[in-house]
Amino acid sequence: MNEYVKAFQKQGYVLVRNFISKEMGKHLFEYLKLYEYDTKLKGTYHEFEKDVQVSNTFVAGHGNMIFDSLMKTMKYKMEYCTGLDLFPTYSYTRLYKSGNELKRHKDRPSCEISVTVKLSDSGWYNWPIWMVNTPCYLNDGDAVIYRGNELEHWREPCGGYDGYQMGQVFMHYVDKNGPYVEHKYDIKMYPPRIAMENFFES
Ligand SMILES: [Fe+2]
Repeated sequence: MNEYVKAFQKQGYVLVRNFISKEMGKHLFEYLKLYEYDTKLKGTYHEFEKDVQVSNTFVAGHGNMIFDSLMKTMKYKMEYCTGLDLFPTYSYTRLYKSGNELKRHKDRPSCEISVTVKLSDSGWYNWPIWMVNTPCYLNDGDAVIYRGNELEHWREPCGGYDGYQMGQVFMHYVDKNGPYVEHKYDIKMYPPRIAMENFFES
């Protein structure tokens, strides 16, 4: 059993440095900023602010293709760090802003095994995610893997300067041998995602 699996089993979460490369993190952060800019040019920005957990943030969506494909790519590392065989469920992305807050919460069953990856930020400030009363400070490409439907997690109000931004992607999985396997590809919540099965299993 490797050190990540030991920590994950003991704590219910594990911090993984360089989960993705810093360059990949930066690239995806730039993609999010470009995506946001594009919605402003097209006049559709308001459609991307509707986040029930965090107000005044930009969301590139549930199941954005670039992040769903990253979720598939990183499945092997999720399995290595948890010691579990997994099915992907869905991805979600936020471009956080100064003043944002994520209340203490647990997530739905599709988030049984979750990872939150820091893509990058605008610098000079680091905004931690809290796991079981421990602040986790992430650098570009670092991640926390955690039991999303069991562990309370949150972010205190973001104290970054005016204009501070941070890109974060959440990728969710379920244990192939666990109680939530019926949520694979998030088909319970979004039945059209059954069409993704061939993609995720190819
Ligand atoms: Fe959450």
